[in-house]
Amino acid sequence: MVGDASNMSFDTLLDKGGYFTTDVDGNAPAATTLLMMCDNQHPVRARNLPGESNDENRTGKGIATVFRAARRIRNGPMTPPSAFTKTDSSQKIFPRACGVYESFLTGLVTVRYNRAMCAEQSISTAEAKSSPGRATNQTARRNMVNRQGESWRPPLFSSSTSLSSRFVSALRRMFDLQTSSIWRDLSAELPYTRGTVVDVGCGGQPYRRLFRSDVKYIGIDTVDAKAHFGYSEPETRYFEGTTWPIENESVDFVLCTETLEHVLDPLQFLKEARRCLVPGGRILLTVPFSARWHYIPYDYWRFTPSSLDHLLEAAGFTDVIVYARGNEVTVACYKTIALILVLLMPQGRSPLAGAVLRILSIPFLPLFVVLGVIGNLSLMGQGGDDCLGYTALGTKVLGI
Ligand SMILES: C[S@@+](CC[C@H](N)C(=O)[O-])C[C@H]1O[C@@H](n2cnc3c(N)ncnc32)[C@H](O)[C@@H]1O
Repeated sequence: MVGDASNMSFDTLLDKGGYFTTDVDGNAPAATTLLMMCDNQHPVRARNLPGESNDENRTGKGIATVFRAARRIRNGPMTPPSAFTKTDSSQKIFPRACGVYESFLTGLVTVRYNRAMCAEQSISTAEAKSSPGRATNQTARRNMVNRQGESWRPPLFSSSTSLSSRFVSALRRMFDLQTSSIWRDLSAELPYTRGTVVDVGCGGQPYRRLFRSDVKYIGIDTVDAKAHFGYSEPETRYFEGTTWPIENESVDFVLCTETLEHVLDPLQFLKEARRCLVPGGRILLTVPFSARWHYIPYDYWRFTPSSLDHLLEAAGFTDVIVYARGNEVTVACYKTIALILVLLMPQGRSPLAGAVLRILSIPFLPLFVVLGVIGNLSLMGQGGDDCLGYTALGTKVLGI
């Protein structure tokens, strides 16, 4: 136990191991900022700064974020209290909960402490403990856990079927090899589907028009689709939680494109697909393999044929087939196209910087077109072990 911080100077506080804390949401405004004193096991004493309210942080129980911000400023060693270095589920909240402004010592020092710093600290501390010699190098590198968004994101798909949007989407498929490869695989399957289909995680419903017009199409998506992915489609059933808004055994076909990697519990998700399918009903999934980390941080997994087979069988599907989309050549074209696209379609730049980047892209345009052609031609083959992604099919096992 260290003691009451009320009358300590900033330096005394640091020497005695003082911490700041935020509320459980990590959104601590000044009104809930507490100054805490801790030993290495338990927060033992906290006081509210003048004019601040009391809350559960006072007991230390609701604390999601406790870190030695002050020591960080002084570049001193950091050792979070052991209560916050456990690898239990509460620890997962720990780096997420940061991203806050802290007022410290009645406003003498204001530190913006973001999530990046907090998670970096917790990881570098663990590393420092196990291998002190590596800690300096590691802290100099960017901790990817702290990433909150992408520097570049492709335009969203639209469900429009107008002539102009069809033209735009055909043009897109020329250079967006992921989409092109998915389109190819779905074109061989969706037009032959009958009955009721559910497109789960439908986003902008880009493949809807591959179904026949007499198919009953139901697009469903999570309520987070707008906030996390930017999608808000009028003809979509949005749902909360993990239970789909679909009756048991009421659909003939489940389509799920580029969604499974965004689902924290893929097995539960596939079991949900199974619940909705009639006996003998089929599922078609596409997942990326060679794709950048996207919709950060809501991109959790990359699957292989082995894991897709395992998951689908575990969820109650049989006759599993997994096709590779593309090969090394496709991947090389895709990645090089991506480099040029950043110049051609700059994002997050000033208008001047954007114009400069576009001008810089001009010499690469012929290469851009050639890569698009070669990439699309390479999709005609079998697909290889190093591919853009996978298309998986499974049939609901009867009688389970
Ligand atoms: C990359 S987008 C793909 C959208 C569309 N299927 C496509 O191929 O363009 C990922 C989609 O997955 C949805 N999603 C994420 N988590 C989900 C979940 N747990 N259940 C259903 N959909 C989810 C998102 O809302 C988003 O629409």
